[in-house]
Formats: sequence, structure tokens, C-alpha cells
Amino acid sequence: SERTLVLVKPDGVERGLVGEVISRIERKGLKLVALELKNVDRQLAEQHYAEHDGKPFFGSLIEFITSGPVVAACVEGPRAISAFRQLAGGTDPVDKAAPGSIRGDFGLEVQYNLVHGSDSVESAERELKLWFPEI
Ligand code: GTP
Ligand code: MG
Repeated sequence: SERTLVLVKPDGVERGLVGEVISRIERKGLKLVALELKNVDRQLAEQHYAEHDGKPFFGSLIEFITSGPVVAACVEGPRAISAFRQLAGGTDPVDKAAPGSIRGDFGLEVQYNLVHGSDSVESAERELKLWFPEI
């Protein structure tokens, strides 16, 4: 069994899609281990997205993720990392995310793609330490 970090980003919270995302996680059979509504400060945002530091969209990505509350969840299950990435769909909601995925069903723009999911075991461990140091 694996654990992964899931975020409902500020656009998803603002649009009232928290229940939709949590519902899809639960219907897939994944378990919620921790769940929190959280305001993201600049330090957490920059640590979370450190791999993108220096890219042209880094500044606007940090602005966006700190623009309003996010819902952070620790999600557990067999192959939870891949399972949630599949629920989310590809990064670009139009070109990459299939209909039926969260991004494919609800997203239009790459920056406003509603959810985050850790992309590897190493990323999940690093991110869960940042977001849920207590668990
Ligand atoms: P996350 O789960 O959020 O990490 O998304 P991802 O793993 O599918 O994509 P990636 O880690 O490559 O990029 C992180 C986030 O940066 C994406 O979810 C987008 O919100 C944003 N992003 C990625 N590429 C672009 C881009 O070309 N332009 C803009 N504006 N944002 C981008
Ligand atoms: Mg990523």
C-alpha cells in the first residue's frame, strides 16, 4: 500500500469542487488518512514546487497556489500514486486529460487544473513531510 499527497488547488476550492474530488477518491476505493483546508504561504508553495523553480511559469504558479485556500489530503491505497494521477488526468486539461478524469471533466487551462497528485514514491514522501509533518 502507498500514500500520496492530493491537493484541491485554489480554483477547485473556489469552484466548489472539493466534494466532487473527494467523492471520486472514495469511489475509487482509496482511503483518506488526513484532510485539511489550508492557506498556503510562499515558503510552503516554493518548497512544494521546487522542481519547477526557474521555469517561465514558476512565478505565476506560486502566485496561484497561494491565492486562496487549498484542501490537502493524504490518500492511501494499493498504487495510490498512479491511481490518483489517473483520476486527475494529464497536466493540460484539454490536450492531455481524458474526459472522465477530474481535469478532463472540469478544467480548461493548464495553470487552473484543479488538483495536484504526487508523481512518484520519492515525491510523495517529500511532499507528505511538507504538508503533514505530524503524520
Ligand atoms: P501537479 O500535480 O500540480 O504537480 O501537476 P502535474 O504533475 O500534472 O504537472 P507539473 O508538475 O509538470 O506542473 C506543475 C503545475 O504547474 C501544473 O499542475 C500546472 O498547474 C502548472 N504548469 C505546468 N506546466 C505549465 C505551463 O506550461 N504553463 C503554466 N502556466 N502552468 C504550468
Ligand atoms: Mg507535478
